[in-house]
Amino acid sequence: MPGSTAGRAELAQVYRRFGEVDAVGTSPLYERVAVALSESDEALRAIEAAPARKRHPTVILAALHDLALAGRAPALAGAYAAADGDAAAGAAIDTLLHMTDSVLAIAVRRKTQTFETGRCGVLYPAITEAAHRVSADAVGLIDVGRSAGLNLHVDRVGITYSNGQTLGDPSSAVQLSSSVVGDRPLPTRAMPEVVARIGVDLDPVDVTDADDTRWLRACLWPDQPERAARLDAEMALAATAPPQLLRGNAVEVLPDAVARVPADALPIVTTTWALSRFPVESRLRFLHRLDDAAAGRPVAWVSLEGVGVAPSIPTLGDRRASGHSIIGLAVFDRSTARTEAVGRCWSRGRLLAWLAAA
Ligand SMILES: C[S@@+](CC[C@H](N)C(=O)[O-])C[C@H]1O[C@@H](n2cnc3c(N)ncnc32)[C@H](O)[C@@H]1O
Repeated sequence: MPGSTAGRAELAQVYRRFGEVDAVGTSPLYERVAVALSESDEALRAIEAAPARKRHPTVILAALHDLALAGRAPALAGAYAAADGDAAAGAAIDTLLHMTDSVLAIAVRRKTQTFETGRCGVLYPAITEAAHRVSADAVGLIDVGRSAGLNLHVDRVGITYSNGQTLGDPSSAVQLSSSVVGDRPLPTRAMPEVVARIGVDLDPVDVTDADDTRWLRACLWPDQPERAARLDAEMALAATAPPQLLRGNAVEVLPDAVARVPADALPIVTTTWALSRFPVESRLRFLHRLDDAAAGRPVAWVSLEGVGVAPSIPTLGDRRASGHSIIGLAVFDRSTARTEAVGRCWSRGRLLAWLAAA
């Protein structure tokens, strides 16, 4: 009930809960700011002017943080830099009241993003496996529903696994770690040469655009300096080989994306927790598009998606919504399509179990 007293009380509870539960132990600044917002009737009224799905603390706090990082809310920026919770609470309320339109415009324009790179620990062996299946020595990566993260730079990071295996570039400025569950080792093949990097999204994030990169920073909480440093390193790496970005519905754009991969390279389409955002019939159309794209050349698809989300990828008998995801591998080679589940992963790729024979 937006605008009503009951609706405002509910919104106050959401902010209080965010401060007292979600931010506790992780972000003393957001703990203090969210509780202060929950106690300010004026602040809650300002937040209520946003569309319902844009009122959540993660969105409004990121929009405020974005203004601070852009130099448009200096008192808030100063309070965050000084890690002064009381000053941050006062400055956040002031900024929200005096710059309501700006805060809401950012909240409406942007989606909160995570720049998590755990996905590479799973994508690396799955992509090399795909290339191996068709003996490809060059690949073109096409990330659909692209994360702002490093999916398209998977070949340029170093990965250390809990079982002692390492993959990727040990001298990269971005080093990741991943835990392996079970006894089966990961394939050790090196990534073939990556000759194209293409991101497809309804609203792609451009790592060479100052507003886009500031927004990624704004989505981090202001008292997470290690994550900010990691993000900077990852964006610096990504910006040295910026991908081609295609804006639009993947179902429509896919043929163009595949056509951009040189003929002597294998197009490998990746989706990481993106297909759940597609209506079910679109997921099937996406699959048919992949099949169509393979009429003249082999095409591979690597998927990290919830159980049963990626059409035609086996579920291994696992229940849907069981908290883990299936690592799917599909190879479309002219008239044949081979689809299989090569593993499972948890925590967005921070843990994985490899199932296929190495
Ligand atoms: C959950 S998010 C990103 C997930 C991301 N790959 C990751 O690993 O965190 C889903 C993304 O899919 C994009 N998306 C949703 N439907 C799409 C479509 N039909 N075509 C292209 N992108 C789409 C959204 O814009 C959004 O960026």
